[in-house]
Amino acid sequence: MNLKGRSFLKLLDFTPEEILYLVDLAADLKDKKKKGILTLDMHRGKNVALIFEKTSTRTRCSFEVAAHDLGMGTTYLDPSSSQIGKKESIADTAHVLGSMFEGIEYRGFGQEIVEELARYAGVPVWNGLTNEFHPTQMLADILTIKEKLGRIKGVKLTYMGDARYNMGNSLMVVCAKLGMHFTACTTRKYFPAEALVKECEKIAEESGGTITLTEDVSAGTKGADVIYTDVWVSMGEPDAVWEERIRELSPYQVNSRVMENAGEQAVFMHCLPAFHDLKTKVGKEIEAKFGISEMEVTDQVFNSPASIVFEEAENRMHTIKAVMAATL
Ligand code: CP
Ligand code: NVA
Repeated sequence: MNLKGRSFLKLLDFTPEEILYLVDLAADLKDKKKKGILTLDMHRGKNVALIFEKTSTRTRCSFEVAAHDLGMGTTYLDPSSSQIGKKESIADTAHVLGSMFEGIEYRGFGQEIVEELARYAGVPVWNGLTNEFHPTQMLADILTIKEKLGRIKGVKLTYMGDARYNMGNSLMVVCAKLGMHFTACTTRKYFPAEALVKECEKIAEESGGTITLTEDVSAGTKGADVIYTDVWVSMGEPDAVWEERIRELSPYQVNSRVMENAGEQAVFMHCLPAFHDLKTKVGKEIEAKFGISEMEVTDQVFNSPASIVFEEAENRMHTIKAVMAATL
């Protein structure tokens, strides 16, 4: 498998074999890290630029730690301190950064931005989250599922909440690619876009996967192996949408009823950050305004033995390391 020079922009660009290769490479790099085997010679002396137009804890830390583990230097550009998009076009930025760095990570808004960056950079560009896709998160999720369930193909994954945004879209794509059974369980308005559903259905036909869209919580979560959710309001969306999101998505909260209806061994996953208690500023503001103390997932489920969210978060680092190791 040779992925050298490839950008990692969305999983639609990768074959199932390539995706599984990256997951296996991540598992190998994780094993090495746990054993204290250094990988500094893999890309020693190279440098990567990390552009974040939206905030981050996991993705930024994963890229930084992974790059350092591979012997590389990093430069972090935060949401306010670069010229990108404000005083300098994406194409010009790509030319400049491509001449100084061996690879570029981009987290921001439209998918077309990261695609344009990749077109002009001349070096691999990695998507650290756009409005449409979050592909590095998918590798971590698949690695975690493989570790916890011992299989990938045939796994039934139900996503609850805003399924038309980066997480819902990406999970649908990865499930289709890898022969998994994806269900978006949410109100119709939040179903993924029809064109992407059609594309994924075609992919699933070949892989043996399925795509189901349902508004019915009981049917949608019945017997699921993985129950997955994400915040109801994503980064970059206006605060004004909170009221309707809470009203429309509350029936799709992951709670103990949902987990009991899912498979006996069902696990709970979330890309994080999650609103499951009142220990955050936003959580407190929402409680003051709308009188709710938990949102997309209850604190009980979040902290239950079924919850594998922190293993999932750790795997962000190992999988991002695999992406850089393979494409540089
Ligand atoms: N899951 C995820 O991408 O987390 P961050 O926003 O903290 O990077
Ligand atoms: N849908 C979320 C994912 C965060 C990792 C967002 O875009 O904010």
